[in-house]
Amino acid sequence: MTKGWSKSDWRAKPRVQMPEYTDMAALNAVEAQLAKYPPLVFAGEARKLKRALGEVSQGRAFLLQGGDCAESFQEFTADTIRDTFKVLLQMAVVLTFGAKVPVVKVGRMAGQFAKPRSAPTEVVNGVELPSYRGDIVNGFDFTPEARIPDPQRMLQAYTQAAASLNLLRAFSTGGFADIHRVHNWTLGFTESEKAERYRDLSNRIADALEFMNAAGVNADTAHELSTVDFYTSHEALLLEYEEALCRIDSITGLPVAGSGHMIWIGDRTRQPDGAHVEFCRGVQNPIGLKCGPSLSSDDLKVLIERLNPENEAGRLTLIARFGAGTVGDHLPRLIRAVQEMGANVVWSCDPMHGNTIKSASGYKTRPFDSVLREVREFFEVHKAEGTIPGGVHFEMTGKDVTECTGGLRAVTDEDLSDRYHTACDPRLNASQSLELAFLVAEELSARHSGSSRRAVI
Ligand code: PEP
Ligand code: CO
Repeated sequence: MTKGWSKSDWRAKPRVQMPEYTDMAALNAVEAQLAKYPPLVFAGEARKLKRALGEVSQGRAFLLQGGDCAESFQEFTADTIRDTFKVLLQMAVVLTFGAKVPVVKVGRMAGQFAKPRSAPTEVVNGVELPSYRGDIVNGFDFTPEARIPDPQRMLQAYTQAAASLNLLRAFSTGGFADIHRVHNWTLGFTESEKAERYRDLSNRIADALEFMNAAGVNADTAHELSTVDFYTSHEALLLEYEEALCRIDSITGLPVAGSGHMIWIGDRTRQPDGAHVEFCRGVQNPIGLKCGPSLSSDDLKVLIERLNPENEAGRLTLIARFGAGTVGDHLPRLIRAVQEMGANVVWSCDPMHGNTIKSASGYKTRPFDSVLREVREFFEVHKAEGTIPGGVHFEMTGKDVTECTGGLRAVTDEDLSDRYHTACDPRLNASQSLELAFLVAEELSARHSGSSRRAVI
């Protein structure tokens, strides 16, 4: 076990971005109840994901992580889960074809409820109230009552996460994930006139599948084609919830977060001596660390030492989120810090959080072009440094929302008000997500054919 670590040690450390509960008796009762409930995931699954991410760190697999910015109690339906899962699978098929390696699929789902905020309060029409911090903490409605942190919400979040995972597990193995079905949906997308530039790639995938089918490799004969390994992840922000779901793995005797397969530390809560790093360092799950422009190379070194002292492959994913145009200012120095330590990490790119702007119509949005540009810069820097761009991290939904501008079926500033449903940050819609997968696949396959061409010469 991590020497001298206990799951409640974070309580003695400085904490930021966490709610101040007023009814301590109610909080304690909820924590005691959650501590008795079954964990949502099992330690063996988290270990399997860690092994898969170890492959990503070596360039033998690619990570696709995506889902809501904030899951909501109100938008909780089977359709919402199915649609996001479906688009993630479509993206994964396209990326597998581009990268020519397996794609590790991780949803921001079944636990992504707590949100850090840029300010503790919000002012609307001269009225100041505490900020909304995600459905697991308080309510979105702009009323004093809704904004009071309510510990009972943790129980509802647990129930929603359990039901979501149940459905995701069923979808993963029950026939829904059959690669032929999944790609047929994509063929539907590339049939449209606007998606013409992606049709060739999409047809080549269809040809490959037909060829395999003719050779007797299909969903009936190869279970890899009919089922998927799908993992869940969320930001480990609300530490009372995380501690209550922390369990000892009966096989290894080590602590694991039972709230999701992978948890990450946000850009605002990554203080090396803070509560969030303290909690995460002691659990065995794969850990993500958001790396924004303010992360110094020295702090990154301390964080790597603290979070992955054994230098275990797949344990630590560094999620770069700098903003288009600034990746070159930060990523090279952080990559070099990692190289100097000989640290084993996965590098992933979150092109969402550094590219949020306020549109002329007043909505928080992200231009599709900036998102794509940041991904390209991430690939370029890794190419120049000779390191591995291991994956991508998106805020997206399977629904046809209008939250990010641009894309094939261009969403304009004026369109944003049509279907702007996010409770927090703007998400890519189904079409924008799939388009991005095609563009990333093009980058990956250029890299692939570039290297095989070099090999031939
Ligand atoms: C998020 O992933 O929703 C988030 C808040 O990200 P970051 O910590 O990188 O700002
Ligand atoms: Co977000």
